[in-house]
Order: sequence, then structure tokens, then C-alpha cells
Amino acid sequence: MYKKIFSGVQPSGNLHLGNYLGAIKNFVTLQNEPKTDCVFCVVDLHAITVKHDPAKLKNNIRETTATFIACGIDPKKSIIFNQSSVSAHSEGAWILSCVSRMGWLNRMTQFKEKAGKDKEKASIGLYSYPILMAADILLYDATHVPVGNDQKQHLELCRDIAQKFNNDFKAPDFLKVPEPLIQKQFSRIMSLKDGLKKMSKSDPSDLSRINLTDDKDEIINKIKKAKTDPLKMPEIEDTLEKRPEVENLLGIYSSLLNQDLDKSKKEFKGKNFSEFKDRLSDLLIEKILPISKEIKRLLNDKKHLDNILLEGSVKAETISSKKIAKIKELMGF
Ligand code: AMP
Ligand code: TRP
Repeated sequence: MYKKIFSGVQPSGNLHLGNYLGAIKNFVTLQNEPKTDCVFCVVDLHAITVKHDPAKLKNNIRETTATFIACGIDPKKSIIFNQSSVSAHSEGAWILSCVSRMGWLNRMTQFKEKAGKDKEKASIGLYSYPILMAADILLYDATHVPVGNDQKQHLELCRDIAQKFNNDFKAPDFLKVPEPLIQKQFSRIMSLKDGLKKMSKSDPSDLSRINLTDDKDEIINKIKKAKTDPLKMPEIEDTLEKRPEVENLLGIYSSLLNQDLDKSKKEFKGKNFSEFKDRLSDLLIEKILPISKEIKRLLNDKKHLDNILLEGSVKAETISSKKIAKIKELMGF
């Protein structure tokens, strides 16, 4: 079967190791599989659902584009574009918002987390954000959507929207119901400061995450300061339930090496943390520093990045304008 992949990343600055291990690394693997077409979107319309700085947006879009490329996404093989340059996304989001039900959106936990206590003051965009995400995916007939674990619920909503649209407008199979691709292991990388909190762009402490633009000293310092516990490294049979920070660091180590958690546990069993942390820093430097250097190099040539986005949006426009035309026809416009 031919696979069509679609995924998106918000250009809100501070792309981090969680974005890489949970999502972008997987994009690259998929891109290099046979019979697979990939579309990777810099979802800039999603980035304005919370307060943003207009002076920084353009460069954040370029930085996310540079990150895709530095991680191994090849604009010759995959379509890379930014959402706001293709109008079908906004148009599709409006139409699908008339298909979606309030009750479905009210269940979204990410909205509850992001809106916090004062949800009356959250933007409508933050609330309807998963509908725009559904439009992104459905416009490209995506069969598979690689994301981190935190996007699972949004993808379930996308599937519901597609099915309701097909039912309401008597168009079986017209909107393709996509499969989420969430890694079985290490799909949720946690903060370096709190093993129960997700590693996040918006955490006020920079020590909580490894940014993909960090240099060698920053990586070493952040791993040195990463929270652990007073015990030694676990034995293989130890469960890590009560040691979330240790589980997370071992998970990062394993994911970077594409190896099983058990293998990593075996490697460090009973050892001191300092030994493990030194090895983890070395590995991060080996894997992340080349990405960081490449992002910085690419950012020196803004024109080149803008051109990649422009070429990508022309291709994306061709695909999505056809789909939106059919959507409108089915609805009776
Ligand atoms: P965002 O930065 O929210 O646009 O997320 C881009 C992609 O990275 C999505 O597929 C997320 O699920 C994924 N992601 C973000 N944070 C993490 C994390 N801490 N662990 C794993 N995946 C993540
Ligand atoms: N909501 C996703 C996130 O915050 C980003 C996103 C937007 C996305 N549109 C998408 C992911 C379409 C996958 C497919 O991580």
C-alpha cells in the first residue's frame, strides 16, 4: 500500500529533544521508506493561538524549517511548507468546525492544560486548534500521521471529524481516516527537571530541555544539572515507576541509540550516576551538536530557506486546492 504521511511542528522557537525523539526523527525514517509520500508542515497558524511576538514569527518559521532540514528531511524528497501560505488550511478549518461538535472539543486535555485556570480568557483559536490540525491532515488524504504521544487525542478527534463529514455528506471514504504513528517506546520525553512533566518549549526554565540549537557546553551543563535521585543506577529487574527522572534519562539514551531500555539498563546497572551522565552527554553531543551546527549554518541563508518554503507551498497548494474544491462541491456550494 502507498503511504501518505503528514505531520506538523509549531514554529514557536526552542525546538527541543522531545520534538526530535518524539516526532522529527521518525519523519526522517518515514521519508526514506519506499512507496511513501511525505508532507511536513511548519504550522504557523497554530503558533498564533497563544500570544506571540510578530517580530519573531518569520524567523521562528525559518528556524523550524532549518531544523527539519538539519535533522535529515530532504526538500527534494518531501514537501516542506508553512501552513499560512496555503489558504486551504484556514478554509478547511472553518468548514470542518461546522462538522465538529462542541462536546468533542470540550474533552481535549491539551486545551485544558494550555488554557489553565482562566479559560474564559483563552483564545477561540486555542480551543478550535485541533480542528485546524484535522484540516491539515485531511486535505492531503494522509494515511499516517507521525506525532508524539501528546497528540493522540487530537488525532482521534481528526478521525471522528472525517467520519462525520463522510456520513453527513454521503461520501463514503472521501475524507481518509488517518492512522496515528506514535512510537511504542520513548514517545513522551520528560523535562530534565521534573520526570512527571513533559519536556516543553514553553517551560520557563531552559535547564528543563535540550534545545536543538544548544552548544556543547550547554548540553554538558544541562545533563549535569538534570534531576536524578540518591540511589545508584537501576538493576535490570528494577521497575522505574517511582524513578521517573531516571527512566526518562535512560529513555533518552536508548532512543538516541535506537536500542531497548533493557539493554541500556544492563549497560549501567549498579553504576554511579556520574558515569551514566558523562556517557549521555557524550552521546547527545555526538547526535545533537551536528544538528545544532547545521541549523545555525542554514539560518545564515534566509533566502534559501524562504525558497524551500515557497517551492513546498506551490506543491502543497496544488494538492489541497483540489481537495477543498471537492469538499465545497459536496457541501453544495
Ligand atoms: P509542537 O512543538 O507542540 O508543535 O510538537 C511537535 C511534535 O513534537 C508533535 O508531534 C509532538 O507530539 C512532539 N513532541 C513535543 N513535545 C514532545 C515531548 N516532550 N516528547 C515527545 N514528543 C514531543
Ligand atoms: N498540534 C501539533 C502539535 O502541537 C502540530 C500539528 C498541527 C500537527 N497540525 C498537525 C501534527 C497535523 C500532525 C499533523 O504538536
